[in-house]
Amino acid sequence: MSTFAPFKALVHQRCGLHLEGLAEARLFRAVASLQASTGLTDTTQLLTRLTSDTALFDQFVSQLTVNETYFYREPDALRWLVNRYLPERLATEEPPLSIFSAGCSSGEEPYSVAMMLFEHFGERAKALFNLTGGDLDHQVLAKARQAVYGGMAFRALSADFKARYFSPYKGRFKLHESLRQWVTFCPFNLLNAEESSPGGPFDVILFRNVSIYFDQQTRRRIHQQLGQLLAPNGILLCGVSETMGNDLGVFELVEAEGVFYFRRAEPPTAVPHSPPLLMGDESADGSGDSASKELEPANSDALAPAAPSEQTTEKAQTDAISHPLQTAHQLLNQNAFDDAATLLEALLKQQPWSIDALVLAGLVARWQQQPHQAYDYFKRAIYVAPECWPAHFYLAELYRQGELPDEPLQRKQRYAAVVRLLTNTPTSNGGLDTIAPPLPPGDARFLAERYLAAVDITLATTSTTQGAG
Ligand SMILES: C[S@@+](CC[C@H](N)C(=O)[O-])C[C@H]1O[C@@H](n2cnc3c(N)ncnc32)[C@H](O)[C@@H]1O
Repeated sequence: MSTFAPFKALVHQRCGLHLEGLAEARLFRAVASLQASTGLTDTTQLLTRLTSDTALFDQFVSQLTVNETYFYREPDALRWLVNRYLPERLATEEPPLSIFSAGCSSGEEPYSVAMMLFEHFGERAKALFNLTGGDLDHQVLAKARQAVYGGMAFRALSADFKARYFSPYKGRFKLHESLRQWVTFCPFNLLNAEESSPGGPFDVILFRNVSIYFDQQTRRRIHQQLGQLLAPNGILLCGVSETMGNDLGVFELVEAEGVFYFRRAEPPTAVPHSPPLLMGDESADGSGDSASKELEPANSDALAPAAPSEQTTEKAQTDAISHPLQTAHQLLNQNAFDDAATLLEALLKQQPWSIDALVLAGLVARWQQQPHQAYDYFKRAIYVAPECWPAHFYLAELYRQGELPDEPLQRKQRYAAVVRLLTNTPTSNGGLDTIAPPLPPGDARFLAERYLAAVDITLATTSTTQGAG
């Protein structure tokens, strides 16, 4: 059994995190830093300390969580929530309604909702809604409470919103006090929702970009826990690429205006909700019908639907590729490789130079054990976007994992490219537009550095052997 197996088991049991595959790199680092900070190298002693010392365990877990987040992430669902769903609920229900961001990281998600609610309802938003964020990781919660952010957090937020809600603060930006105080943050473990007691019941739970770190069995357990926190009429929103993976039979999946959400299987008949629109329904294209216009905020250029224009056409083109890409991504995550391959092939016929499609197609080909095809896709991605570090990384992996006959020099070049690219731009998305990089940039760089060192040893050994011969 590997030295790390008991640590994996402990983290899985307490927090649900599935530390297999590439996530192992984080575990290696976390155990090394634990050894350094405690002075203990013996695994049994370390585990005993970890299980009995809550603060040490929290510190350890902070190094294992992936806290990637930013303001205004996946805004379509948030716009629907704020401009359609919540006003409809308020038309028949007494305020306040409660919204919970489960796995809120450093606060960008609940604060985005706060800004959008403020845009729509003005100052009275604070009386209409309670906002809470919860996370396992105590370090990100401390950041959330401070509400001071650097450049990357604003990558999707309009300059207008940033200027309206933030003030310069020590070289960064601080959220205005009235919004900061509106959101409450609390320690929260999805596996132990009731004991964490974040309050509730909640009318809306945002559970976005969190479930990808759990296996299916754990996700099901989490749904049951979240069910305890959800008000009878409440809804659960997952991230765009996660929705299908969360359709586990605990909740019912509903689609409205292109946004997917979950609700209890049989809501009471008195519950108001907009009739779910069928996929492909013409009114579901987000172009804004008369009802949606009535509900538009008075003071929200950023939120208003775009007039039919070049912008709309451009959006339609972007949507035309981003939806199938997200579907292909889901299919890959669900191991439906043949379906993913068929979809990507069709997509690449229309958009032969889509970096996202090329990288996904390469990954799918690897799973289908077609390394030459995977090689071609990754090479094409690098040809279109030399900064595409995921393509460099996975090309090198084809050699390292023995899927292609090894070429140590090629392998070295590719890993070196990953290290160079991610040293220059540590949070680069590698030129991907729609899907997230298949592994976090920090992990890719860490692994590439390790594998680069290993390939140097191979090359040194080879040249010594050849020299001796
Ligand atoms: C990638 S962030 C997502 C942040 C935000 N929801 C978003 O969509 O941008 C995932 C967060 O889930 C948290 N998390 C992971 N396991 C958790 C658990 N068992 N309970 C609560 N939070 C957890 C992590 O600490 C991390 O901050």
